[in-house]
Amino acid sequence: MRVYEGRPQHIPVGPETNFQPTPALLRQHWNARTAGLLVASPANPTGTLLTLAEIKALAETCRELEGHFLVDEIYHGLTYAPKEGPLGDEIDAPTACAAGDDIWVINSFSKYFQMTGWRLGWMVIPEAYQRDIES
Ligand SMILES: Cc1ncc(COP(=O)(O)O)c(C=O)c1O
Repeated sequence: MRVYEGRPQHIPVGPETNFQPTPALLRQHWNARTAGLLVASPANPTGTLLTLAEIKALAETCRELEGHFLVDEIYHGLTYAPKEGPLGDEIDAPTACAAGDDIWVINSFSKYFQMTGWRLGWMVIPEAYQRDIES
């Protein structure tokens, strides 16, 4: 964000929304200079997940507000339901890729592949921005 001189505006969240923003909160905090919404699912440090329905609702709200929707999925593959065993049963976190081609999905090798420090990752981006990202 600093590269593009963007300034983050935080949306306060709590247990009532599973520590994730909702369309209503997004609308409340959106202003004329807002470029988009960035979320992490699973989130750090809360570990909470957005359902696919919640991702779709946030994506739709961003579309209506004419902003970008970016989803950090760096903790994918490291999600466990609290059942038996030391870590519980592994569960699949829904990917925002399933919610539309206009969503920016961010990932990295540092968590699932334990390559912390490499600062190596990948993005799934809207096709129209491919040239911008490459340059
Ligand atoms: C949600 C989230 N996104 C991104 C990162 C950055 O990962 P890296 O720079 O190691 O690829 C972290 C690291 O803790 C994180 O928790």
